[in-house]
Amino acid sequence: MEDTELDSSELGTYDYWKKTYAIEVNNYEENGDPGDVWFGEDSAQRVIDWICSCGVSLDTPLIDLGCGNGYSLMELARQGFTNLLGVDYCEEAIVLAEKVTKEEFSIIKYKVFDIINDDVSDLGTNFGIVHDKGTYDAISLNPDNPKENRRKYLEQVTKILCDNGLFIITSCNWTDQELIKQFSEKMKLKCVIPTPQFKFGGKVGSVVSSVVFIKK
Ligand SMILES: C[S@@+](CC[C@H](N)C(=O)[O-])C[C@H]1O[C@@H](n2cnc3c(N)ncnc32)[C@H](O)[C@@H]1O
Repeated sequence: MEDTELDSSELGTYDYWKKTYAIEVNNYEENGDPGDVWFGEDSAQRVIDWICSCGVSLDTPLIDLGCGNGYSLMELARQGFTNLLGVDYCEEAIVLAEKVTKEEFSIIKYKVFDIINDDVSDLGTNFGIVHDKGTYDAISLNPDNPKENRRKYLEQVTKILCDNGLFIITSCNWTDQELIKQFSEKMKLKCVIPTPQFKFGGKVGSVVSSVVFIKK
């Protein structure tokens, strides 16, 4: 992992998420607003469409790391997936996700869990799909030792994936090439999910990157 680290930001801190989700729980209780879909609904939908068409069975154990308000899990449940676990290190996020999704989709399970520091054996199973949208970004933006935390993240994700399991990550801070390089020690590239591109100063780039890996 030789990449330059990202400039740190409050989005990389636990306090930021605690404060944000406390406000969102309150908003949901007062006016039914489920809160932000990070990077927009389109980027979530592209990944959900990919998962639905990749040929895995609907009972494949799937974990969403840093699930926030549970939006991706809710959409996967809507598509018929039955073995869904959302984890987030912020208790307020789990409270929000439960409030937003439980009534319609009670099959989704949730757990307060820190993907960097907690013991993965507490998750109880290996997963056929590990999904992340924005959580590796948040970890990379942490002011304290992001490089070491990114290393731990990869180690933990590798532990919870079953053999040939899929790791699907969406980032708006790292390019697909940077993600491929950072995960290549333990993951093989399966594909890059196409995302809209922009052209600036003669260079072509994407606003978000979604990459699918298979555990080596
Ligand atoms: C940018 S938000 C994305 C939320 C959700 N995945 C989405 O796409 O709407 C990042 C999420 O990662 C969670 N998070 C950050 N670090 C974490 C960690 N070490 N373990 C678990 N969750 C973490 C935050 O609480 C927050 O919910």
